[in-house]
Amino acid sequence: MQRAVIMGADHAGFMLKSLIKKHLEILGWQVTDVGTATADSVDYPDYGHLVAEKISKGEAPFGILLCGTGIGMSIVANRHRGVRAALCWNEDVARLARTDDDANILVMGARFLDNSVALGCVDIFLKTPFEGGRHAARVNKIEI
Ligand code: RB5
Repeated sequence: MQRAVIMGADHAGFMLKSLIKKHLEILGWQVTDVGTATADSVDYPDYGHLVAEKISKGEAPFGILLCGTGIGMSIVANRHRGVRAALCWNEDVARLARTDDDANILVMGARFLDNSVALGCVDIFLKTPFEGGRHAARVNKIEI
């Protein structure tokens, strides 16, 4: 699978986004960063839609979205066809988001996670394959 990730965040998530971006680039991932790039207040839907649209179009296999709680970004991203955005708060949840839900966007709440937990979630999410089988039948029922 293509080692490419599209990332976006609002002002609450931009510092964590920079950290994750650096981490992934060191590991050899191709990272597309749609912003935001400063602590100036912005609206999370503007960045959530940018990332989700690209994932929906197949421009990369995975996206990462960050806001304060992760809730706003999840709501926005999951309005896009083919997007399965999962709000994750620990490595076990990040693993299950891939094995069971075939999630293609990892969402995290930057104001509620330690950096080390967030990086752990990223690593697990990106390396865990979808299990398919009974989970595939369920995932196939998601789109309306
Ligand atoms: C911004 O203050 C905050 O509302 C946003 O980052 C996010 O938590 C929304 O869900």
